[in-house]
Amino acid sequence: MLPYSALLLLFSPLTQASLQIIPGGTWTASDGRHIQAHGAGIIAENGTYYLIGEDKTDGTPFQNVNCYSSTDLVRWEYVGALLSRTSSGDLGPDRIVERPKVIYNDETKKYALWMHIDSRDYGDAKVGVATGDSVCGKYEYHGSFRPLGFQSRDMGLFKDDDGSGYLLTEDRQNGLRIDKLDPTYTKVESNVYTWSEKIESPAMVKVDGRYYMFGSHLTGWDPNDNVTLSHSCSVYSTSASLSSGWSPWREFADDGSNTYASQTTFILPYGDGNYMYLGDRWRSDNLHSSTYIWLPISIRGPTSVSLKNKINWVPNLLEGGTWTEGITETGYEGEAGQAGGAARTVSCSDCSGGRAMGYVGGPDNGSVTISGITTEKAGVTTVRIRYANGDSSTRYANVRVNDQAPVKLAFLPSRGGTSSSTLVTHLETADNVIVFEGIDGGWGPDIDKLFVPVE
Ligand SMILES: *[C@@H]1O[C@H](CO)[C@@H](O)[C@H](O)[C@H]1NC(C)=O
Ligand SMILES: *[C@@H]1O[C@H](CO)[C@@H](O)[C@H](O)[C@H]1NC(C)=O
Ligand SMILES: *[C@@H]1O[C@H](CO)[C@@H](O)[C@H](O)[C@H]1NC(C)=O
Repeated sequence: MLPYSALLLLFSPLTQASLQIIPGGTWTASDGRHIQAHGAGIIAENGTYYLIGEDKTDGTPFQNVNCYSSTDLVRWEYVGALLSRTSSGDLGPDRIVERPKVIYNDETKKYALWMHIDSRDYGDAKVGVATGDSVCGKYEYHGSFRPLGFQSRDMGLFKDDDGSGYLLTEDRQNGLRIDKLDPTYTKVESNVYTWSEKIESPAMVKVDGRYYMFGSHLTGWDPNDNVTLSHSCSVYSTSASLSSGWSPWREFADDGSNTYASQTTFILPYGDGNYMYLGDRWRSDNLHSSTYIWLPISIRGPTSVSLKNKINWVPNLLEGGTWTEGITETGYEGEAGQAGGAARTVSCSDCSGGRAMGYVGGPDNGSVTISGITTEKAGVTTVRIRYANGDSSTRYANVRVNDQAPVKLAFLPSRGGTSSSTLVTHLETADNVIVFEGIDGGWGPDIDKLFVPVE
């Protein structure tokens, strides 16, 4: 398989105007796995974006704080862990470490990593602090505490234009707080503001001199929801000052959508005055398969914040950084492809035409070859793969496009329906061939349909 860095080199001179974000899909990183950066934040440096979040590979207890990098917000390279499980203590076995966030301190020249530190029964309710010399390198853990003596659960960080740092912290007894950090960003100095409302998952952004605080109503992981989506309606409050004048909380997504079944984790300013909402669609029974709802958010004044759902969209980071809607697509049915090995058409109620190509991979090396794919968006592009995976664990496939080296793609459980996985590849204008094969005798997904951009 071609190393990811080689792929980036190969692709970088070509047009990138169709690289898509597909909210809620499987996002395969350079290591061939669904991105493990839940409850994440992003920090940008020298044109590179670093995604830092929770590794939930083995469920709830702390494993790693992971770091991925990207220059286009679509292709993510796994870089490593900032912190990993230790034999005992705050980061030991069976501990809770959530919502890691990093800001850079211009004075100390260090990166400050803050995170929610807790026991399995959420009784500790503390924040932990670590510092590092490089954004995606190893961090030194300095311990945990209750900020100013108050409980702290969900949290975020905010760095103001004047270099002041702030902790956004949910104190379940007293409400959501903004606390000022000391000049080294390793201690909490004083309380700046407290909302009495119970709001969790805080994230702050400053737009045209005005602060916007985002969060969601306290609902946790709703056990009543049969697909165990997080059922949390997100809201925002805004003010020209951090310490006073905050508006009432308002909704910003479509009514009844529960923020498109996601919970806020971060708001990223990028490109030419664009903002991206980052939310988690939690799967409480299978946390590693929680997906990412990233959408362009429009912030145009105190009462004009809005978020619309999209199947796909294009951040256009390398081409001026003004997002655009997903490009017109054409579809290719999986079952219309050529079956190899024991692969064959299967019925699938949620699939287009009620059918898909099944038995891809497995002991008989099933495969499907989809030929004659054309696009007017030749070059590096996103192909959306709609699939079914009825297992409770992730399936994998090798995907070969034309004569390129195979790329390993992940396919999360699709829970009785279909789901999407994202392939970034290089296409010619005509006669493209895409082949799906299993890996080492494992089963790949049932291939419902490929969606290929046309102009
Ligand atoms: C960004 O660029 C500056 C100046 O060239 C350099 O000192 C710094 O290490 C770079 N940061 C990263 C994360 O590459
Ligand atoms: C969830 O499951 C329960 C019990 O099986 C059922 O009564 C209820 O209608 C389901 N709710 C939804 C929204 O599907
Ligand atoms: C499947 O592929 C493996 C690895 O190439 C090979 O050892 C095996 O014989 C193949 N099985 C069949 C049924 O072709």
